Amino acid sequence: MAFKITPTIEGEKVEYENPSAEFYKAIGEEEGMRNFMYSFYDIIYKSDIHNFFPQDKEAFDLVKEKNTKFFIQLCGGPKVYEKELGGMDFDEYMIRVHDDFSIPEKARTEWLGCMREALSDVDMDEALKENFWNYCEQFSKLTVNQFPDKKPNPYF
Ligand code: HEM
Repeated sequence: MAFKITPTIEGEKVEYENPSAEFYKAIGEEEGMRNFMYSFYDIIYKSDIHNFFPQDKEAFDLVKEKNTKFFIQLCGGPKVYEKELGGMDFDEYMIRVHDDFSIPEKARTEWLGCMREALSDVDMDEALKENFWNYCEQFSKLTVNQFPDKKPNPYF
């Protein structure tokens, strides 16, 4: 399994497809997705980006639950995240949620590393894992909002 990570380039258009209905089925629909996302967040909790997330257990549990609902709806399951959106566009809303945090490329790479680890613990067709990975790998670029300062060009 490749699980490649390509760099985020500031201002570049990000193209992605939502994960497939086959992935949603293979993960085990609502219950399976909940187990998967909770194990993903257990890995996040031990990672270098744990400090981005609430340290208070109840608040962290709420993030896990919202995240689970997001992914259920994203992958074609019931629209359980709909009321969080308040009428906003699905992807637009996600970008806004992350704009409240300063996310550099390094944090994205760490997040994806946690996702790669969570996926490796799942028993599933590799092509379906890759389908889900491709969404995460691309979409995560839209959460990056901190870029290194451009170096001044010494010749002009
Ligand atoms: C494919 C990429 C990603 C997706 C789909 C995603 C999805 C989500 C979702 C659904 C939530 C919960 C929003 C809510 O309803 O309140 C959330 C919250 C959050 N995500 Fe992401 N995320 C992604 C990448 C990242 C990355 C790269 C970081 C880097 C640190 C990150 C950090 C956070 C933080 C800090 C929160 C909010 C925690 C809080 O509410 O205190 N996410 N994300």
